[in-house]
Amino acid sequence: MRILLCGGAGYIGAHAYVVLVERGHEVIVADNFSNSSPGVLGRLQQITGQPVPFQPLDLRDREAVSGFFGRQHFDAVVHFAALKSVGESCERPLDYFHNNIGGTLNLLHGMQQTGVRRLVFSSSATVYGDPASVPVREDARLQVTNPYGRTKLVMEELIGDLCLSDPDFHAVNLRYFNPAGAHASGLIGEDPGGVPNNLMPYICQVAVGRRERLSVFGGDWPTLDGTGVRDYIHVMDLARAHADALDFVARERRNLTVNLGTGHGISVLQLVKAFADAAARDIPYQVVARRPGDVAEVYADPSLAHRMLGWRAELGVEAMCRDAWRWQSLNPQGYPAA
Ligand code: NAD
Ligand code: WQD
Repeated sequence: MRILLCGGAGYIGAHAYVVLVERGHEVIVADNFSNSSPGVLGRLQQITGQPVPFQPLDLRDREAVSGFFGRQHFDAVVHFAALKSVGESCERPLDYFHNNIGGTLNLLHGMQQTGVRRLVFSSSATVYGDPASVPVREDARLQVTNPYGRTKLVMEELIGDLCLSDPDFHAVNLRYFNPAGAHASGLIGEDPGGVPNNLMPYICQVAVGRRERLSVFGGDWPTLDGTGVRDYIHVMDLARAHADALDFVARERRNLTVNLGTGHGISVLQLVKAFADAAARDIPYQVVARRPGDVAEVYADPSLAHRMLGWRAELGVEAMCRDAWRWQSLNPQGYPAA
């Protein structure tokens, strides 16, 4: 298939690019680099041995999106492009609504205009909020707790309505749990701008000496060791699921919403220990107050993804830590300037 990756220069998009090219697809990356670096494109070329077709594009620009679709033909779109910081979304909700929801509407409009009827959408476990029980199934109650989560829920709903209105439009919503790790080459990985919000990139920056110590948000959660429990999923496993989702829409011509997780929760301190073992260095940390909005324990029931896509996570926490550390130690300051 000829596939457009919107937001394909970002963390997950770049890893999906590699898998899709390996599976023989023709893949075009579009991005506005609002949260990524042009340096990733050279790295993708190094990994795949081919130049990376790239289109600068801001999804907020409806005319540009529409013009771009008018000049190109695509069989499918994988839509990663979004702002993703929970804290920032609470400070600037309108920017999140405009970028994530407005950008998605422009994208769907461009697709509709040109008859592109296959979509794979990056959703998130954030749509479950604080789940009543774990593991979380797809039919659990949806309840968002911040504007970022709201955008994911609204986008799932908008896409669902479009599928209802056009029986030939098919979408797969992939609800990622906690992506972590990097491509085994160490050439691409997670490169957050500023202070990392998420646990794994923060640990990586402590390990490489960019930050003094990790703050563990809460030691009094009702969990095995008092720290928060999450379902960390290797980004290469996640990447593979996008290829499987594209095969699914092409083959089954149906819509689907699935969890992508391992089915196993691990605590902050368990992840810190696994990382320290993989990197063979101490990760200094101190336990501080809980982070507002956090929840005790979230992990997936990933069995639907297995049944529908034939997908399951293959890589464990050791591989996530080893690969994240390889990326960070080879690229202590992230991507080079392009
Ligand atoms: P990322 O920020 O690394 O990648 C997103 C990419 O989209 C970036 O390259 C950014 O420049 C681009 N982008 C943003 N707005 C754009 C716009 N208006 N026009 C064009 N490009 C735009 O994030 P990621 O971690 O790779 O996440 C990818 C997707 O997965 C996002 O939709 C995110 O919400 C979702 N998600 C991420 C996580 C996670 O923890 N990383 C978890 C669940 C869901
Ligand atoms: C994991 C655990 C923290 C940082 C977020 C979004 C979610 C999704 C994935 C996009 C928690 C603890 C963290 C730190 C810590 N993103 N922690 N010190 O909160 O599960 O999910 O990213 O869709 O929507 O909410 O991930 O990596 O921030 O936190 O102790 O410096 O690590 O309290 O228990 P989270 P996270």
